[in-house]
Amino acid sequence: MCGIFGYCNYLKDKDRKEILEILCNGLARQEYRGYDSAGLCIDGDKPRDIVYFKEVGKVAGLRKRIAESSIDTKKSFVSQVSIAHTRWATHGPPSTINCHPIRSDVTSEFIVVHNGIVTNNAALRQVLQNRGYRFESETDTEAVAILLKYVYDSQPDKRITFTALVKTVLKELEGSFAFVFKSIHFPNEIVTARRGSPLLIGVKTDKKLKVDFVDVEFAGPEADSKTIENLEPTSPTARLAPPSSGPKMSRRQSRNFMSEDGMPQPIEFFIASDASAIVEHTKRVLYLEDDDIAHISEGQLHIHRLRRDEPGQAGTPATRSIETLEIEIAAIMKGKFDHFMQKEIYEQPESVVNTMRGRVNFDDHRITLGGLRSYLHIMRRGRRIVFCACGTSYHSALATRAIFEELTEIPVSVELASDFLDRKTPIFRDDVCVFVSQSGETADTILALRYCLERGALCVGVVNTVGSTISRETHCGIHINAGPEVGVASTKAYTSQYIALMLMALQLSEDRISFMERRNAIIDGLRALPAQIKSVLDLDSSLRSLATGVLANSRSLLLMGRGYQHATCLEGALKIKEISYMHSEGILAGELKHGPLALIDENMPVIIVMTQDSLYPKVQSAFAQITARKAQPIVICNEGDKGIKEGVKTIRLPKTVDVLQGLLNIIPLQLLSYHLAIKNGFDVDFPRNLAKSVTTE
Ligand code: F6R
Repeated sequence: MCGIFGYCNYLKDKDRKEILEILCNGLARQEYRGYDSAGLCIDGDKPRDIVYFKEVGKVAGLRKRIAESSIDTKKSFVSQVSIAHTRWATHGPPSTINCHPIRSDVTSEFIVVHNGIVTNNAALRQVLQNRGYRFESETDTEAVAILLKYVYDSQPDKRITFTALVKTVLKELEGSFAFVFKSIHFPNEIVTARRGSPLLIGVKTDKKLKVDFVDVEFAGPEADSKTIENLEPTSPTARLAPPSSGPKMSRRQSRNFMSEDGMPQPIEFFIASDASAIVEHTKRVLYLEDDDIAHISEGQLHIHRLRRDEPGQAGTPATRSIETLEIEIAAIMKGKFDHFMQKEIYEQPESVVNTMRGRVNFDDHRITLGGLRSYLHIMRRGRRIVFCACGTSYHSALATRAIFEELTEIPVSVELASDFLDRKTPIFRDDVCVFVSQSGETADTILALRYCLERGALCVGVVNTVGSTISRETHCGIHINAGPEVGVASTKAYTSQYIALMLMALQLSEDRISFMERRNAIIDGLRALPAQIKSVLDLDSSLRSLATGVLANSRSLLLMGRGYQHATCLEGALKIKEISYMHSEGILAGELKHGPLALIDENMPVIIVMTQDSLYPKVQSAFAQITARKAQPIVICNEGDKGIKEGVKTIRLPKTVDVLQGLLNIIPLQLLSYHLAIKNGFDVDFPRNLAKSVTTE
């Protein structure tokens, strides 16, 4: 998905070299989100002069283009704003003309970077073209830039504020977005807004700020009723009637970013889609809510609302607090590893500990999930538990469904968020809906969450990214605390989600004496897990040999298992296809005879997960059926399993409690997918066509 970065310094001397470096680094930190072109714009040498750099491909290419240009990098700016963007093409192919920042016209009166999709852009484009405005790109974003110019042009006295202008335009837009706007008419001002796509603002000062929150400035009814009328292109007589003037500035324009002594102070603002782009500059950040519009000018940050809300109204607090990021810069660097994915696979012995830290008392077998405490009684009384997620997060819910059913005796369904919405699944007030998401920003999962909130269900989040939309909009939840996951292929988030969900099932069943023994065994199993994960990671070189040996020329790979291991097979197959681009399918071994067996012959590579649990005999029978058809499966089994014939290729793993075994079994599959991709020379951290955070439907 696209990545946004904006930089604004006020009373703080910065030369162009530093500014360009800050912008390129901001983009590079967000590369993992997935993109196909990168661009930025900065102030030129003369007033109202804007300089663009754009490049199809990587941020490294953009840096090279800048280095090769003749721009004066020594020119310094005491105050300026500049914006940058990595684009993941939706409207129009990757090209320099479609690359953001997008301008309204050749003089760059208005400039925009955008994440998301403006779904009514075709209609807007048509109306604006009918009015004589010319488009140069195929992007949906250009309609927004030109609409800003249109509204501005329509002001007889040109006295509209930048915020009022943006507000007027945003009211005409449908879809989801995060925007940052710059304009030659409003030098050194920046306006940013979000609806559906994440956006946060980092604040850096030498002295402490007077306050650590920003008041939200709620517009009056008169200002809010202003829209551009008759934008529908279907009306041949469409008359664009711009507002006569913008809403007046709020009376609450307090100068909130002064230092404690009340003096204006040098200040820097960093606007980004992701905290990882900000943390190297400052840990003080403010997350924007949907429909917030932030305006930065003269070192002050003001937040306005797009819609009329009353302060304190549910979901729209009257202030936005400046929070402290807890991530460390080292967490978003590769360190000694070649790739983020590899680093994150290797982090799992620690990341699973972080998920359990402060929540599991191994001595008295107690679980404490503070984020759920006040809601446990509602959850226990729930008529149904509905999990909603996408991709890997969906698999983590699937992996733990059985333990929820066993320990809570509440019916459980696990839903792919997109399908859940497509079906308009019936949801009731006594349902407990759990939304699992690493990023907390996945559009389908967010829409499913809002659908369930509207129907009065209790909504619980299981999220990695603190401050994300899902973590903010759910009633309660658990942060999985896996640390930033940068690799596009989710690895450590899967094991941490799995554990967080396990803890939730254990907590929900703590009052059930009949399950005590089972619960205690699981908690003991959790204690041993980090060391066991370490020993599985020791198999890395043998997995590399598999990838470069027997599987080297395979075009397809089937993964089979049943019970708890069905999710392992689905997740393993997803890893293999997304990173190594090899066809791979996770198959429920119980379904073998109902179709997939037809695929089996001596040439079909198969991995069968046959670790020892109550379904072991049934998986043995699947093994017999495929070997009878000449398949030569690789078997994932437990150390010391004597039931497997000599000569069969095995991946032997430590044994743990049945319901935790999937946490160990997935690791060789993660490593295998990694090595298959490396062998084929693929870019592991940036698999083709994929984005880390899928913020559009
Ligand atoms: C696969 C992967 C994706 C995500 C999915 C949901 O490795 O990363 O399948 O799991 O896009 O993302 P989140 O968990 O952020 O909602």
